[in-house]
Amino acid sequence: MTISTIEKAEIQLVYISERCAGTNDAAIAKIKLRAEHNNHRRNITGVLLYSERYFLQYLEGEAAVVDALYASICRDSRHTNARLLLRKPITQRDFSRWSLGVKKLLDIEENQDLLAVLNMIGEASNVSESQLEWFKLTLK
Ligand SMILES: Cc1cc2nc3c(=O)[nH]c(=O)nc-3n(C[C@H](O)[C@H](O)[C@H](O)COP(=O)(O)O)c2cc1C
Repeated sequence: MTISTIEKAEIQLVYISERCAGTNDAAIAKIKLRAEHNNHRRNITGVLLYSERYFLQYLEGEAAVVDALYASICRDSRHTNARLLLRKPITQRDFSRWSLGVKKLLDIEENQDLLAVLNMIGEASNVSESQLEWFKLTLK
């Protein structure tokens, strides 16, 4: 492996966090606008899923760029308790078409499975990669 391939190694990072009270749909629309612009510029792709209570985000791109973004996201006061669920090297992106896809999970019948797993992840201290894999397939 050459130095340049090491430098350009890509990762996928997943975290879950809790929405703050003031972070309503309008606030999330603002995050999306800014994030789409920034992510495109930084060659980052991903999705942001949210419910009444949680955010769950997949980010993928060059390791150093994703790590720096995650550090800045963690400091963002529009959410709290960000918890890293997965950080792994990838050779292929799952969300290559989206600078940032955003999906709101409403409490309706068709979202019940996703909501149940999201709540479980939010409350669990350990989350398996297969649970996240299931999530990812449902989002793609
Ligand atoms: C749940 C959540 C997800 C976010 N996702 C992204 C993202 O994917 N990309 C991004 O640039 N900013 C994202 N942000 C915003 C960052 O925390 C930060 O405000 C932003 O990157 C600053 O960008 P600016 O320097 O262009 O203003 C997110 C914020 C929250 C609360």
